[in-house]
Amino acid sequence: EILYIICCLLGYLLGSISGGIITSTLAKGPDLHTVGSKSTGASNVQRTMGWKYGIITFLIDGLKGIAACAIAELFTGSHFAAMLAGLFCVIGHNWPVFFHFRGGKGVATTGGVMLYCFPLPALLCIALTVAVIALFRYISVGSMLLVVTFFILSFFFSSCNACVIVWTFILMVMCIARHHANIDRLIHGNENKLGHKAHPSG
Ligand code: G3P
Repeated sequence: EILYIICCLLGYLLGSISGGIITSTLAKGPDLHTVGSKSTGASNVQRTMGWKYGIITFLIDGLKGIAACAIAELFTGSHFAAMLAGLFCVIGHNWPVFFHFRGGKGVATTGGVMLYCFPLPALLCIALTVAVIALFRYISVGSMLLVVTFFILSFFFSSCNACVIVWTFILMVMCIARHHANIDRLIHGNENKLGHKAHPSG
C-alpha cells in the first residue's frame, strides 16, 4: 500500500506545479490570482496573455497529468496506481501546495489523465468538448461536458466497474465544483466567451 500512497503524493506534487504560473512568471505576465477569472488555468492565461501562452499552459498542465499516470504505472505496474496518481495530480492542480492552494479548474490535467487511463473514451469526450467550444465559444460549458460524458461513458467502457465509476465521478464532481463561478456567470448571461475580452465580472 505504501507504493499507492507514494503515487498519490507524487501525483499531488506534480499537479501542484502550475503551468500557468510558470508561463506567467517566465513571460513576466500578470499575477493570475488577481486577473480575469483568477484561475491559474490555460483559459485564464489565454484571456490575459494571449494564445501562445495559453497553449503552452494547456500543454504543460495536460502533460503533467499524463506524466503522473505514466510514472505511477511504470513503477508499480498497476493501472489502478496510474488512476490514483492522475486523480491526485488534478487535486494538486486545483489546490496546489506551492501556491496557497489556489490553482486552476483542472480541465487540461483531467484531459491528460483521461487520455492516459482510457484513451478511446477520452478521445471521444475531447472531440465532443472541442466541437461544443467551437460552436458555442464557452470553454466552461465544453469543460464540464468533458467530465460529465466521461462519467456516463465509464459505465460502458468499464463494464460497470465500481472503482472506475467512482474515479470518473470524483473527477466530474471536482471539475464542476471548480466551475461554480462560471455556472453563476452562465446563469446571469455574462460568462466569458472564447476570443472575447474578459467580462468585468471575472
Ligand atoms: O478550463 C477552465 C475553463 O473551463 C474555465 O476557466 O478561467 O475561463 O473560468 P475560466
